[in-house]
Amino acid sequence: MRPHTGLLAPGRCGRQRGPVIELSDDRSSSKHSAAVGAISAPAILQAHGDAVTGYLKELKTRFPDGPPRLIEAMQYSLFAGGKRLRPALVLETARACGAKDPAANRSALAAAAAMELIHTFSLVHDDLPAMDDDDLRRGRPTNHKVFGEAMAILAGDAMVTVAFQVLATDAEPSVASKLIAELATASGPAGMIGGQVLDIDGENQTLSLPDLKRVHRMKTGALLTASCRMGAIAALGGSDGVVEWLSDGVSRSTAASHSTTSSLHHSNTSSALAAVTEFGRHLGLAFQIVDDVLDVTSTPEQLGKATNKDAGKGKNTYPGLLGMDASVQEAKRQLTAALDALRELGPAADGLRALARFVVERKH
Ligand code: IPE
Ligand code: IPE
Ligand code: MG
Ligand code: MG
Ligand code: MG
Repeated sequence: MRPHTGLLAPGRCGRQRGPVIELSDDRSSSKHSAAVGAISAPAILQAHGDAVTGYLKELKTRFPDGPPRLIEAMQYSLFAGGKRLRPALVLETARACGAKDPAANRSALAAAAAMELIHTFSLVHDDLPAMDDDDLRRGRPTNHKVFGEAMAILAGDAMVTVAFQVLATDAEPSVASKLIAELATASGPAGMIGGQVLDIDGENQTLSLPDLKRVHRMKTGALLTASCRMGAIAALGGSDGVVEWLSDGVSRSTAASHSTTSSLHHSNTSSALAAVTEFGRHLGLAFQIVDDVLDVTSTPEQLGKATNKDAGKGKNTYPGLLGMDASVQEAKRQLTAALDALRELGPAADGLRALARFVVERKH
């Protein structure tokens, strides 16, 4: 495949080079705590992003008979330089829940790749003329601008099927069906896709704050929460009732199975899963509030996508409803709540803490 020339210089909207991360999972070591305190979010995103990108690059060998133009369209968006935040959350949550080397945990790596496939699908479709009608994404012309609308729709569709194929074939059999259920639930009618429907339906109307919060939690928060849950499930070996959290926004994951891969005691697994679920819910809302803020305050060069789009499209946003200052304050409140939720997880969750701060402080 010949690389396409982007509108913006590569890497502008994406990740920086950084050291490979080696975090111990020794939760009791204060020395370790000081060491991971120095780990930066860009370094975490770089290391986990590289692992997931390498894995995604291998996938095309599984489709030797796939039409080359379809594979090219999929690769165009998958390797355009996204931040890889969701895969990093999967892998760091796995670490926080006891995986010593999360990128070497086959279930966690498959979950990270599957999540990025679903996320990238959501972006390709979000940009279509029938939806947000955007021309720039990840610093490049949007998929439909290069490949046409039909191919962009089909490339997105194929990313969905590959995501579930990866989980079914590459994750440990003991957790594969749980991971599939998590991703399907978070992507579907009560999650991301449902949220996209409410976002479009709400255009040119003024939603109440609770309704806007619901849209944001569904269209964006669901995948971020599922990223955390899937990392935990990969590390802990699963839990019963894993898909119940979406229905009313309250975590009700109380039962847990025995773990074969975790250093955590069985009695701690359900509370670890509840903790990362709560973390993900606050982080997910914070992420979309900041996305709304950056649409107003940032530039296409920094973000790799158009700015000042939301008001013109009649979108409901936090700055539109609350004003800029109150929106920034609300994002910070959500960050505090997210960090509070991790309290019981100790130093192994320091990577997650760094990612959470990045979400609220980011400029892209
Ligand atoms: C953008 O997500 C879409 C939203 C959910 C707001 P990201 O900002 O994580 O996009 P990439 O993956 O870095 O391109
Ligand atoms: C999109 O929200 C969330 C998705 C499910 C893709 P936005 O429409 O605000 O995302 P951007 O700003 O285009 O990345
Ligand atoms: Mg949108
Ligand atoms: Mg959009
Ligand atoms: Mg946006």
